[in-house]
Amino acid sequence: MNLPLLQPLSSFINTLFFFSLFFPTYVSSDSEGYSACEPFSCGQINNISYPFWNSDQQPSYCGHPKFKLDCQQDSVTIGMVSQRFHVIEIDQTSKVLKIARLDLWNDPCTDEYSDVKLDSDFFNYTSNDDEYTLLYDCGRPVLNTSRVNIEGTIPFTCPIGGGFPNAFCLLSKDVGNLKGLGCKNRINVSVLREAMKDALLVQKVLEGGFEVGWSGVDEDRCDGCIKSGGRCGHNESKDAFMCLCLNQQSSDEVCSKSLARSPLAAQTPRPTTAKSLIPPNSPIFPKQSPHAPSMYSSLI
Ligand SMILES: *[C@@H]1O[C@H](CO)[C@@H](O)[C@H](O)[C@H]1NC(C)=O
Ligand SMILES: *[C@@H]1O[C@H](CO)[C@@H](O)[C@H](O)[C@H]1NC(C)=O
Ligand SMILES: *[C@@H]1O[C@H](CO)[C@@H](O)[C@H](O)[C@H]1NC(C)=O
Ligand SMILES: *[C@@H]1O[C@H](CO)[C@@H](O)[C@H](O)[C@H]1NC(C)=O
Ligand SMILES: *[C@@H]1O[C@H](CO)[C@@H](O)[C@H](O)[C@H]1NC(C)=O
Repeated sequence: MNLPLLQPLSSFINTLFFFSLFFPTYVSSDSEGYSACEPFSCGQINNISYPFWNSDQQPSYCGHPKFKLDCQQDSVTIGMVSQRFHVIEIDQTSKVLKIARLDLWNDPCTDEYSDVKLDSDFFNYTSNDDEYTLLYDCGRPVLNTSRVNIEGTIPFTCPIGGGFPNAFCLLSKDVGNLKGLGCKNRINVSVLREAMKDALLVQKVLEGGFEVGWSGVDEDRCDGCIKSGGRCGHNESKDAFMCLCLNQQSSDEVCSKSLARSPLAAQTPRPTTAKSLIPPNSPIFPKQSPHAPSMYSSLI
């Protein structure tokens, strides 16, 4: 191919046009990440996006490693520290997740008495949660219904002791009131205050789950990225936020609203760290159109 600079102007323009035909192909590799990370459905939950991702449907850069969802037709789960939880609800706007312990899902009885540990760099309980305690293996002799008639205490029965209530669910701060029962095991659980109202079955309360708010995943940068027309992602090897852009090279921060590179620039190898050549919100091309601006920019 002839060097464009040696050609007369009209031919030069033709050459540019020739390049511009290839431009969309080149661009599509940049928007691959953008397309791959479109909002998705998981189980019965729709319109899920960053920081969540689903390893079956998406590359890992669509979300943060701590927010990986496992999607089955009728169950969505997430792992936190060493436990798994049912995901009941995801509120992307207020950034609140409603989850329930998988190990206590169908049955409050267990022989593994472990408390939930949240990764506090990313998750915190919300003010809708209350701290409750499940007491297990409580002794029969001291069982006296009037003594356990503490408001909000739900008695339940686990197989271990046989046919009488030998377990209790109550506010953690009231646990001292049942000291006399000599319960041998306990689990602290967070439950929704609302679910505890008039509750008769511990199982129902546990299945109602509890709320955790999330943060620590570059929320502000993600908002900026979305406002610039991009989708949020996370580069796992760099452990850094990234903004995935449509029709342009993705960047660490935001997508520039215009197409930043001329076709000639497209000939040079792409730099590994993406930075647009024209700053975001450049007045030159306030609105983008994949073809016209690139032709235009090549002529100035
Ligand atoms: C999907 O979620 C985004 C924010 O996370 C929201 O702006 C948008 O309106 C939602 N779309 C639908 C169809 O619910
Ligand atoms: C959770 O709360 C603790 C204590 O208030 C705070 O130090 C931590 O940063 C919070 N984490 C998140 C993810 O909000
Ligand atoms: C239960 O305890 C209460 C008060 O501690 C006592 O008055 C009552 O007699 C006890 N009932 C039984 C059946 O032991
Ligand atoms: C469980 O809750 C009780 C009462 O609030 C508290 O004393 C205890 O330290 C908690 N246990 C764990 C493992 O958090
Ligand atoms: C993450 O960053 C590394 C190092 O800069 C880069 O080589 C890699 O392509 C990036 N991954 C994605 C998915 O952008």
